[in-house]
Amino acid sequence: MSDSSNNQKTTNTQWGGRFSEGVDAFVEKFTASIEFDQRMYRQDIAGSIAHATMLEKVGILTSDELSQIVEGLNEVQQDIENGTLEWSIPLEDVHMNIEARLTDKIGITGKKLHTGRSRNDQVATDIRLYVRDEIDFICQEITRLQEGLIMLAEREATTIMPGFTHLQTAQPVTFGHHMMAWNEMLERDFERFQDCRKRVNRSPLGAAALAGTTYPIDRHMTANLLGFEAPTENSLDSVSDRDFAIEFCSAASLLMTHLSRASEELILWTSAQFNFIDLPDRFCTGSSIMPQKKNPDVPELVRGKTGRVNGHLVSLLTLMKAQPLAYNKDNQEDKEPLFDVIDTVKGCLRAYADMVPAIQVKEDVMREAARRGFSTATDLADYLVRKGMPFRDAHEVVGKSVGYGIEQDKDLSDMTLEELQQFSDTITEDVFDVLTLEGSVNARNHIGGTAPAQVLAAAGRAKQKLQTRK
Ligand code: ARG
Repeated sequence: MSDSSNNQKTTNTQWGGRFSEGVDAFVEKFTASIEFDQRMYRQDIAGSIAHATMLEKVGILTSDELSQIVEGLNEVQQDIENGTLEWSIPLEDVHMNIEARLTDKIGITGKKLHTGRSRNDQVATDIRLYVRDEIDFICQEITRLQEGLIMLAEREATTIMPGFTHLQTAQPVTFGHHMMAWNEMLERDFERFQDCRKRVNRSPLGAAALAGTTYPIDRHMTANLLGFEAPTENSLDSVSDRDFAIEFCSAASLLMTHLSRASEELILWTSAQFNFIDLPDRFCTGSSIMPQKKNPDVPELVRGKTGRVNGHLVSLLTLMKAQPLAYNKDNQEDKEPLFDVIDTVKGCLRAYADMVPAIQVKEDVMREAARRGFSTATDLADYLVRKGMPFRDAHEVVGKSVGYGIEQDKDLSDMTLEELQQFSDTITEDVFDVLTLEGSVNARNHIGGTAPAQVLAAAGRAKQKLQTRK
């Protein structure tokens, strides 16, 4: 930084010392990140305050200088928050914009803040702090959605619906069991974000440009002040790797995959062909041409947005794949995909957490669908096995009974004992206990099974887990 340069107007005030001409106007805009990295201003200021606090402790700043810097930075934050700081493109990024504003305010002392650090460790610190905050918020939203699912599961623990494989009616399950399946997916998503948080939560501050710094800095102190678990181990790695952001996006992709699968089911279930549930009007929209339409826009959009999150994951993987150590400008490209993943996931979670508790279940329709689809056929086979028939033979007997049912347009439970006995005389009056839908779900009474008692027990355990998060 030169104070005697006679072409100050054309060179950058933050790094213009060795330059003899200003940056091309297009290149200036092309290389700037301020338009998207300004959202990390709070993290940037917190990082600077921690850095300055440490510099004072090790004797590089006086306590008076530290107070000026802290006060100045707090003012800069206020300026940003009340909209009086105009971001400057020539100042490139959030780091230099804030530092320049600080120097405007407090003069020469502001120029001492950057001692012993670089934008390379600064940006790595900011992103980690930013992602950490967002993980915490995302995890709260996952929890809110899980609360809704568990509530529905308890309310609909005895509500019967057809369970599907290959989207063909397979065996009856309870709606509560289905909701708890979604809850399990989200439970793992929560765990994944928590696990990712451990690797996010390490402090690269002090790695400086790439090799560390000649000043007697205390990296443990800054790590501590910023709530990081520990300083990172290697300065080259610290400023260059963005694996933590990739890992975050990967957890986000899986979360979106789960939301997308749930969306697909909600979309099917609201169709006239299934007609299993209703979504409240406030989560749907109509058609401008077809007056009868009520479209499940929220699930459809969530399903669609999964594509962009997956795309961003691939962007970040590709961004990283051929970078030599240490920092490269390529890494500036990490932010837009990362931020869009964060915004997208938060939006989808919010919509889902608001919508799920309002799902209205059409119990009679689901029951009828389960009754119609020979969904208790496996129960009849198991019944024959209990009476001593080998399973393969039982499978054959039931297959023939179903064939007869299709011909006669009768479900198994609609047949008379005589009709059933055509296929095996092992069948007696007690068969009707197993052919009912209730009998079928109640019989699957072990951990992980669909019996209402098990669904309620699973919901109880799930609620306990949520409790430990508070
Ligand atoms: N805006 C840059 C980024 O987002 C900050 C770090 C720039 N460092 C540098 N040496 N140019 O990565």
